[in-house]
Amino acid sequence: MLQKIEATTKFIQNKTGFSGKTAVILGSGLGNFADLIEAEYKLAYEEIPNFPVSTVEGHTGQLIFGKYKGKDIIAMQGRFHYYEGYSMEEVTFPIRVFKALGVDYLLVSNAAGGINYNFEVGDVMMITDHINFFGTNPLIGKNENKLGPRFPDMSRAYNPELCDVARSFASEKNIQLHEGTYVGLTGPSFETPAEYRFLHTIGGDTVGMSTVPEVIVANHMSMKVFGMSVITNNGLAIPEEGNKHNDVLDIAKIAAPKLEAIFGKLISTVG
Ligand code: HPA
Repeated sequence: MLQKIEATTKFIQNKTGFSGKTAVILGSGLGNFADLIEAEYKLAYEEIPNFPVSTVEGHTGQLIFGKYKGKDIIAMQGRFHYYEGYSMEEVTFPIRVFKALGVDYLLVSNAAGGINYNFEVGDVMMITDHINFFGTNPLIGKNENKLGPRFPDMSRAYNPELCDVARSFASEKNIQLHEGTYVGLTGPSFETPAEYRFLHTIGGDTVGMSTVPEVIVANHMSMKVFGMSVITNNGLAIPEEGNKHNDVLDIAKIAAPKLEAIFGKLISTVG
């Protein structure tokens, strides 16, 4: 794995000369954030050595290198999901490469189902903690001590200082920002009503099919993580017609400006 990370990192360095501190992962429906970046280089996943090979037709996504509010950032437009059949190592490989490129701050976003009675569709939530419900962990297997410890601490998985910055900014700008626990699970089926109720009961506030593997790997390498969910559907009041992926994407687009404002503040603060 170390050789793969090194080869991919060298390739990206040669192509882009990137030397920023921040990477952003854009979740489903949140890809428009990329339009706000003054892009200097774009690398399609297909052309990046050792990046997972797409299992589905069409383009899988790209890394965008450029300036946002004067800071050098990488944006990951389109992520690798476990439900697509990628291994946990593949899902989290980009995070390994970001760290090797010198990135210390990882901002992650996702579209998620709300499982808190105070949340409404279109709201945004700062992730202050998570529950790994994938039934597996990206760190299973031989530990690479060069990357991080065998038993990494996860007690501050979502960096409290970054949360403070976001909290103050949201309150100053009158952006309603919920806080809570994200439950990550494999999907790709949406949850049954009983499953949503169960996830609410065990302490979840949002539920989705990503983020947790990437955040575990980022913590393994001592990166500082900030995460946000856009609530695209209400798990505790499922509509008559059921949950639909297209609705998830439409709502994510509507809520995206709130996320962009908060990510923008963090990038300009830390980057
Ligand atoms: N469940 C899981 N993943 C999701 C959901 C959901 O309700 N909404 C958006 N992503």
